[in-house]
Amino acid sequence: MAEIGTDIQKAARLLKRGKLVAIPTETVYGLAGNAFNEEAVLSIFETKNRPQFDPLIVHSSGVEWIKEHVAEIPSLAKTLMDEFWPGPMTLVLPKKSIIPDLVTSGLDSVAVRVPKHPMTHDLLQLLDFPLAAPSANPFGYVSPTTAQHVNDQLGDKIDYILDGGPTTVGLESTIIGFEYGKPIIYRLGGLSMDVIEDLIGPVEVSLNQSSDPKAPGMLKSHYAPGKPLYFGNPGEMITDFEGKRIGFLGFMTRLEFLPPNRQLLLSPRGDLHEAAVNLFAFMRQFEKFPVDLILAERLPEIGLGKAINDRLRRASVNS
Ligand code: TXA
Ligand code: MG
Repeated sequence: MAEIGTDIQKAARLLKRGKLVAIPTETVYGLAGNAFNEEAVLSIFETKNRPQFDPLIVHSSGVEWIKEHVAEIPSLAKTLMDEFWPGPMTLVLPKKSIIPDLVTSGLDSVAVRVPKHPMTHDLLQLLDFPLAAPSANPFGYVSPTTAQHVNDQLGDKIDYILDGGPTTVGLESTIIGFEYGKPIIYRLGGLSMDVIEDLIGPVEVSLNQSSDPKAPGMLKSHYAPGKPLYFGNPGEMITDFEGKRIGFLGFMTRLEFLPPNRQLLLSPRGDLHEAAVNLFAFMRQFEKFPVDLILAERLPEIGLGKAINDRLRRASVNS
């Protein structure tokens, strides 16, 4: 198992030596390595068992640094950075050649982000390179929101996990790209669409639903927990599973016809932020429950509900 601790200096030393360190961010834990070091980047892909066609996000401590890594910043991107960084937003911008092709899977754009977590902010300031960091989970599995989640799955493959406590957002960053200067959301995430649209007006959403491994970016099947998850209306779905032990992942209200100890509610008080924070940890908890399958209820399609539904849909075997 990996060492879990809060020693930022130690994390910096390891990263400078080309090693990987799991780092806390406000969204999910990342598996970080020196973005300029191809060996380190390669070991990120290997450790996660992630195909190299799926590009990584590059993390820096501030906007000044981002300018060193990207060739151009459209004016709307500037507006978004000024408002939402540090925070749960990633921008896809034309890359400078200093960013290795391995990081971007050969694309001429790079995904960049300034995370909002004091520990990782301090860590980045000790380094003279940015950190390439995907979520610190094996490829295709649920993202980690605690240091222990990372240790459970990648503990025997990495040296150190920087423990910054449970993450406060719980969903991966919202990814925004620009096509002909027009912003496009590629991944719904911890920064909700309405907050973005309040600032810059209507934004198109183009989620990659592809299951084609040649297409870089978000694969359709992702975030899967260890048990089959069915997404939709539990009352309708339940008739298909007579005789099975059913778990219920709901929003506010339990199902009367199931034992209470097989149910988890994301937010009994109906708070979508709380639901986002709980989502991935609860998906993991069902693995230890005596259930054969999980029914996951569709949340209201507002605010963070859209991103939560997106994750549940991708995690599901039925949609
Ligand atoms: O919140 C987050 O974004 C977390 C934390 C650790 O920062 N990171 C994260 O990374 O979720 P990851 O690797 O699990 O997801 C990054 C996604 C990739 O799957 C890919 O779809 C997209 O970012 N991406 C990266 N570079 C891209 C590019 N140049 N163009 C389009 N999409 C890109
Ligand atoms: Mg991921």
